Amino acid sequence: MQHPASLSSPPQGHHVDVPAHPAQGNGKASADVSVAVALTVNGKNYALSLDPRTTLLDALREHLHLTGTKKGCDHGQCGACTVHVNGRRVNACLCLAAAHEGDAITTIEGLGAPDALHPMQASFIECDGYQCGYCTSGQLMSAVALLEEPLGPTDADVREAMSGNLCRCGAYQNIVAAIQRVRAKA
Ligand code: FES
Ligand code: FES
Repeated sequence: MQHPASLSSPPQGHHVDVPAHPAQGNGKASADVSVAVALTVNGKNYALSLDPRTTLLDALREHLHLTGTKKGCDHGQCGACTVHVNGRRVNACLCLAAAHEGDAITTIEGLGAPDALHPMQASFIECDGYQCGYCTSGQLMSAVALLEEPLGPTDADVREAMSGNLCRCGAYQNIVAAIQRVRAKA
């Protein structure tokens, strides 16, 4: 016999149209709205006009063309978009650009230069800490930030601190080695 509850439930995977809540609007496209946003990125000041919903990640990539910061998941789960805000690492895909006026934002472009690498960048090269490189800017930004964080000495401590940065190529072992190399010299 069919359970009574199943009589009113749609089959699994069946799409059900949910009426829009009145607070979600009247179905018409919202008017374009822009706000003035002043950002300081890698020591330079930028005046932007942005949709207030623009994430910091999209502001960096699409408006300032600083494409070293990568978009992986766009949902705070992969760490590819990691940048520094006032020296602390954040997922730029989870931040609204307009909320970071007055903050000092650093991206991978501000970390080092080809002829003057940050020690962490040099260590990643030395230890072969990347393969395709897509996650690498996020890994580097996290790795540099954690040098200023309270952290135990072991590889396990580093792995835990870096657990928000995923690497689809599985370069984890060499990433940890690269970070530990820099920490040993600090
Ligand atoms: Fe931001 Fe994945 S793109 S955490
Ligand atoms: Fe390819 Fe990490 S080096 S995803």
